[in-house]
Amino acid sequence: MLYDANPTLEGIKTIDESKQGSVFYKESTGATPGLKHFYIESYGCQMNFSDSEIVASILGDIGFAPTRNVEESDLILINTCSIREKAEETVRKRLKAFEIIKRNRPDLKVGVLGCMAERLKKQWLEEEKLVDLVVGPDAYRDLPNLIGSAEDGGRMVNVLLSREETYADISPVRLDSNGVTAFISIMRGCDNMCSFCVVPFTRGRERSRDPFSVVAEAQDLFEKGYREVTLLGQNVDSYKWDNPENGEHVDFADLLEMTALVNPELRVRFSTSHPKDMTDKVLHTMATYENICKYIHLPVQSGNSRILELMNRTYDREWYMDRMESIRRILPDAAVSSDIISGFCSETEEEHQDTLSIIEWSNYSMAYMFTYSERPGTLAARKYPDDVPEDVKKRRLNEIIRLQTALSLRNNQNDIGKTFKVLVERDSSKSAADFCGRNSQNKMCVFPKSEGIKPGDYVMVKIHDATSATLLGKLA
Ligand code: SAH
Ligand code: SF4
Ligand code: F3S
Repeated sequence: MLYDANPTLEGIKTIDESKQGSVFYKESTGATPGLKHFYIESYGCQMNFSDSEIVASILGDIGFAPTRNVEESDLILINTCSIREKAEETVRKRLKAFEIIKRNRPDLKVGVLGCMAERLKKQWLEEEKLVDLVVGPDAYRDLPNLIGSAEDGGRMVNVLLSREETYADISPVRLDSNGVTAFISIMRGCDNMCSFCVVPFTRGRERSRDPFSVVAEAQDLFEKGYREVTLLGQNVDSYKWDNPENGEHVDFADLLEMTALVNPELRVRFSTSHPKDMTDKVLHTMATYENICKYIHLPVQSGNSRILELMNRTYDREWYMDRMESIRRILPDAAVSSDIISGFCSETEEEHQDTLSIIEWSNYSMAYMFTYSERPGTLAARKYPDDVPEDVKKRRLNEIIRLQTALSLRNNQNDIGKTFKVLVERDSSKSAADFCGRNSQNKMCVFPKSEGIKPGDYVMVKIHDATSATLLGKLA
């Protein structure tokens, strides 16, 4: 899912949790008189960013407008992530900064949302004196209620998880948007019990959203000028929905097709695929529709079967390689990316070598790479000692990063001379004279602007140069 690139390691999207915050806002100047304002920062995966848009919609209904200026807000919200210890440390630091603002503004309310709210529950109110609200990911409909009580001086907690909540009827407020690309959550929670992972505890049971509400949201976005949607879930391949009216079964491949049919000019992406569930049916659907992007994020985590078993990933090295071979056969042009964890409990040097060799064999276009971070309450924390020393984890991670950087560069250099269809997204962050946008394979292309071309247009770009992170080209 979404992690910020570490700017010091071009092309390698290692996590840097301290840079992950994002401010959502509507107005670029000043507060709207007469309205109350909320300020929200989001951390973690795309699902959290997507949830913040649902929160904005719920708050809009009770007269709260978003602001980018924390000083003028009546309510500060921080949508948190628990995936690694570092992510939680970042949140604690931000709360300290808000504490200083609150000291002079006793009426200002501060709320913790998301996965860290869910994980620590009531503990927040004991540990952090400035927190007024603690709201878990399935309780956002209760926000109006909770905010009302907080305004009356209460300190409120709702961390109930639900088996049904999908927020399907709530139209997200797109706040921090380029007007071209948007996320649509298609499911919530996760039923896989990967032994390292906190998500099943913070997000609850897996549930899929009504496909017709997904298609309606995609249609609405298209009509508003958006040209790309990313369907989100922790394991999109296990999407399933049974029509209560006629018993019709909709799986992920069906939903992908339904979304692709909204309009051939609307690109469809998705994240994340789990190797145990990714079917050839999904790959064939991708091959059938030009507007389904030829890019798959298929996290391997480790290249060693013993470690994969300890991780409870329910596939082994051979199964993963078989899935990759299917991708290469059915979608020869597709790019594949991955997530990798170094130094999981009891990992040996030899097993680490297996990870390096599967990275090389898979020839990923890109990867998110992490050292193992033990999370309280997970299966691994309960069963296996976190016994790979920190310096060994880091050294192995650096070897992984070095290899992936070389592969990313080689991969991108192979694109020199090719011409790609690119969806223009925005100005390049390096130069206002250039636009940037991605090709079907999710590679960022940068090219000089030209009269009459604007974000939301499709253009053909011929690549003349490449770094490990970016393709540089000219309009063809
Ligand atoms: N649902 C997705 C993963 C979501 S979490 C999937 O199964 O692929 C994103 C990534 O964070 C994971 O793929 C994993 O590589 C990493 N991650 C999760 N828990 C972690 C932990 N305890 N320590 C280090 N990395 C972790
Ligand atoms: Fe975590 Fe595994 Fe679920 Fe992904 S599939 S969210 S890694 S438990
Ligand atoms: Fe996402 Fe972090 Fe929660 S990765 S699901 S916000 S723990």
